[in-house]
Amino acid sequence: MIDFKQEVAEALKQYIPDLEVSEILSMIEIPPNTNMGDYAFPCFRLAKTFRKAPPLIATEIVKALEGNKAFQKVEQAGGYVNFFIHKAVFVEKTLKEVLEKQELYGSSDLGKDKTVIVEFSSPNIAKPFHIGHIRSTVIGSSINRIYKFLGFNTVAINHLGDYGTQFGKLIVAYKRWGNEEEVQNAPIPTLLKLYIQFHDEAEKDATLEEEGRMWFKRLEDGDEEALRLWQWFRDVSLKEFNRVYSKLNITFDSLAGESFYSDKMPRVLEMMEEKNILEKSQGAEIVNLEPHGLPPALIRKKDGSTLYITRDITAAIYRKETYDFYKNIYVVASQQNLHFEQWIKIIELMGFEWAQDCIHVPFGLVRLEEGTIATRKGRVVFLEDVLNKAIEQTKSIILEKNPNIDNLDQVAEEVGVGAVVFQELSNNRIKDYTFSWDKVLNFEGETGPYVQYTYARASSVLRKADIEVKGEINTTLITDDATMTVIKAIQQFPDIIQDAQRKNEPSIITRHIIHVAQAFNRFYHDNPVLVDEVELKKARLAIVKATRQVIGTGLNLLGIKTPEKM
Ligand code: ARG
Repeated sequence: MIDFKQEVAEALKQYIPDLEVSEILSMIEIPPNTNMGDYAFPCFRLAKTFRKAPPLIATEIVKALEGNKAFQKVEQAGGYVNFFIHKAVFVEKTLKEVLEKQELYGSSDLGKDKTVIVEFSSPNIAKPFHIGHIRSTVIGSSINRIYKFLGFNTVAINHLGDYGTQFGKLIVAYKRWGNEEEVQNAPIPTLLKLYIQFHDEAEKDATLEEEGRMWFKRLEDGDEEALRLWQWFRDVSLKEFNRVYSKLNITFDSLAGESFYSDKMPRVLEMMEEKNILEKSQGAEIVNLEPHGLPPALIRKKDGSTLYITRDITAAIYRKETYDFYKNIYVVASQQNLHFEQWIKIIELMGFEWAQDCIHVPFGLVRLEEGTIATRKGRVVFLEDVLNKAIEQTKSIILEKNPNIDNLDQVAEEVGVGAVVFQELSNNRIKDYTFSWDKVLNFEGETGPYVQYTYARASSVLRKADIEVKGEINTTLITDDATMTVIKAIQQFPDIIQDAQRKNEPSIITRHIIHVAQAFNRFYHDNPVLVDEVELKKARLAIVKATRQVIGTGLNLLGIKTPEKM
């Protein structure tokens, strides 16, 4: 990576030898506007050590750096040292790097030989794919892509909710009131209806609950009929989920859901016994977490059946043994914070140091704006409705802008789906947010369509250009402010990706590519690209090409397609 920040840090190191370069690097700031330089170093923290006022320290640093050719200018301003880089050099190095590396620009081998598990989506079989799962799906898929791009060996796991007492209940309900054809035709709505019916009837008939528990026990014990029905419910549900995944362009490396661990739990329960952390409580077995400020965790019920948490503990141990992960990431709603705190604590109490590598990446809720989507009772795969509506609306917007477009259907799908995904990934994940159609599909706002449109515009300029952008570029021609803003945003991109990885926060990339797109559109507005002077045209085309690359990679990391025309 070309690193101007590094050059600044190394220059500063000569004046402050006591600080590590890495520490200096972390202190360097990017000033809010360019007349304050390209990088700034605040001297406030040095005041104590040097026993001098910050402005004086800044002045001395400037003196010490006099004659340093790496910078065009070094200036003191208050307690800051402002660094101005040589613009043409900066532009040249940045463009060269992007144009050489192309789709690899921003990638790295940071994660070489490290396996990261990213668990995401994890919907519950026979239940609608609800909005919490949508967030998990979209955020998790992007996190998975980001780690992969940075060289980690990633394993995307869909920890399907395909086990538990509810399946006993579902079997009972199906046997009493269900019919095969209805399940085949509309699996999830029908199964959901049966499940609701079970709860209604159970209020009147107390034996039902008991019967449900018994059927789940049978399932755990491998009873043939129970297994057959359960397998069928799972298959038809998965088929529904897969339609959504394929629209979103998402695949998993493993579908090991909760049921996968059913035969692996006895061993884990033994391990817990050996570690002496299980306690009997009214016939059931629990782990007392009171000393750790947490409520007790129920591990095994009176009748011997296991729970959600038992399966999470077992899954984590299995993953460590199978993949020897460096990190084991869970993209799951913040409502489950307590659950994750509990079981990760239990892993720790079992003596596994790698408990600290199990990371819950929580996210906030989505609220729906009034009238966002008609909630049709029984017809529930909500995400699919949202995606279809987005595609439909996009189609009419595109037709208005570009009535002669080829493959309208494909573009509308890429833009419509992209718009929904982009909005999901626009806000800091932990914040709750309100889903709003106006925001999602606005081609001028800070939206997916806006960024995709910018990409398509850059693509079109490159198509229209009659020369290839390669080789020598006279970068002294392109140092105006609008250009510098684009170039800087491009140069920051690799750092941005790593920051997103460190924080497990795709929105850092979303925000940045909005910034790149806005900067590019300003540049494009001020600087005609397809001009007669060949040198100038070449230089500007290089910027178009580099911008297109960065936006393309950014969208790709978010899991969004990049239509060439729209
Ligand atoms: N199926 C669960 C639900 O819908 C989410 C699973 C989260 N992952 C986990 N390892 N607990 O609430």
